[in-house]
Amino acid sequence: MPKNKSTSKIKTAKLIINKNTYELPIYNSTEGESVIDISKLHSQAKLFTYDPGFTSTASCESKITFIDGDKGILRYRGYNIEELANKSDFIEVVNLLIYGDLPNKEQLKKYKKLITRHTLLHEQIINFFQGFRRDAHPMAMMVGVMGALSSFYQDTLDINDAHQRQEATRRIIAKSSTIGAMAYKYSIGQAFVSPKNNLSFSENFLHMCFSNTAEEYKVSPVISKAMDTIFILHADHEQNASTSTVRLAGSSGANPFACIAAGVSSLWGPAHGGANQAALEMLEEIGSTKNIKKYLNKAKSKKDPFKLMGFGHRVYKNYDPRAKILKKICKNVLAHVGIKNDPILKLAMELEKIALNDKYFIEKKLYPNVDFYSGIILRAIGFPPEMFTVIFAIARTAGWTAQWTEMIEDPIQKIGRPRQYYTGNKSLKYGTKRSRKNTR
Ligand code: SDX
Repeated sequence: MPKNKSTSKIKTAKLIINKNTYELPIYNSTEGESVIDISKLHSQAKLFTYDPGFTSTASCESKITFIDGDKGILRYRGYNIEELANKSDFIEVVNLLIYGDLPNKEQLKKYKKLITRHTLLHEQIINFFQGFRRDAHPMAMMVGVMGALSSFYQDTLDINDAHQRQEATRRIIAKSSTIGAMAYKYSIGQAFVSPKNNLSFSENFLHMCFSNTAEEYKVSPVISKAMDTIFILHADHEQNASTSTVRLAGSSGANPFACIAAGVSSLWGPAHGGANQAALEMLEEIGSTKNIKKYLNKAKSKKDPFKLMGFGHRVYKNYDPRAKILKKICKNVLAHVGIKNDPILKLAMELEKIALNDKYFIEKKLYPNVDFYSGIILRAIGFPPEMFTVIFAIARTAGWTAQWTEMIEDPIQKIGRPRQYYTGNKSLKYGTKRSRKNTR
């Protein structure tokens, strides 16, 4: 039975197998699909359910983020993403995700100070960067350094101590931005720039990336607002692949820094957070509107592994609300930096228009997702494509730590250990001669 008493059991599902009837409780969600509790199925019926990719499986009970994929709705703790993007700021959203309510002015001011004082890294961590090749992908540095933090902050590894959990969370969020900026500086051969505590989270990130020892980067309000909105939009997204990775790693009792490093690794994939870099590189490869048809045919062909990057989503079968907001931000950022008629933005909008009127995309309900426009904005701000997923990871430390905390504090939490649908060899005697079907 889930911990949330407000989840009333409305009825049971009856499963009839070989004249046996199994009753499985159904729990009512506060929003969206109800769930069938199958946790007793194996002990009652000696059966597993089978759901590769977890397309119909709820892995946990959560109160943090709600998505309605058919209507294109995204809410953090009940607040619509459009309102938060418009009226809130990233650190307020971090506080909302982790603590469940919007902080009052006093609480927010205090929380911002708590996060800001964790932006510095132990000086020895600089040595980690020296070990990377200059052309290492910045996500490789994010994974490596995030995991290494556990050796420097040994006073916040006890996951059963609420204060240590909160401190670890604040360190991860604050330091992810400094590590991300350092990875960028290292990859372009520039000296690291220290954080400045009189700046906001987003201003500080831009300062650490674009200031250098010779001159201060002037943070424009338009750019820092765009940066902050991008962080808000990427902060959490229910039980996506990287968040599920963090929850699974955390379920074994691993320390928070190791769990978040696992999340960074999973996010890196081009089917997930790596799609923002892949989408911009795809648009650059398509090059001109006259090639759109050719690439759409590639995306539709079963024989071609090519997918339209930044399109499609496991949950959204409608326009990703975050993509709508990013499309609007695109225009003000490009105008602000003086890019008129950006050919890549024009190409992206033309590609979207043609795809959304194409039978294949309509039938499969494939729409632009969060990664389709974000790269165009980040490139206009001055980031190279390799930094796009780093920025996604910095934002997602909010959701990862909020979901990790919720899991640790869940009284029914246990180690995640799925079973399998086994189709391998039956028992064999050692030395049994078998023709090897495939030579690897
Ligand atoms: C993120 O889960 C999250 O919430 C993730 C995320 C978050 O905030 O954490 O929202 C962030 O990861 C967004 C998604 C970024 N990825 C991409 O843009 C990569 C391109 N998209 C696809 O790889 C795909 O759409 C996925 C991975 C996003 C979703 O894949 P699913 O849910 O497993 O769907 P599927 O692959 O089963 O697709 C269903 C059908 C398939 O055709 P059929 O086998 O049914 O004939 O649609 C096709 C797919 O081939 N399809 C595409 C396509 N996406 C799906 N065909 C062409 N181009 C695409 N982009």
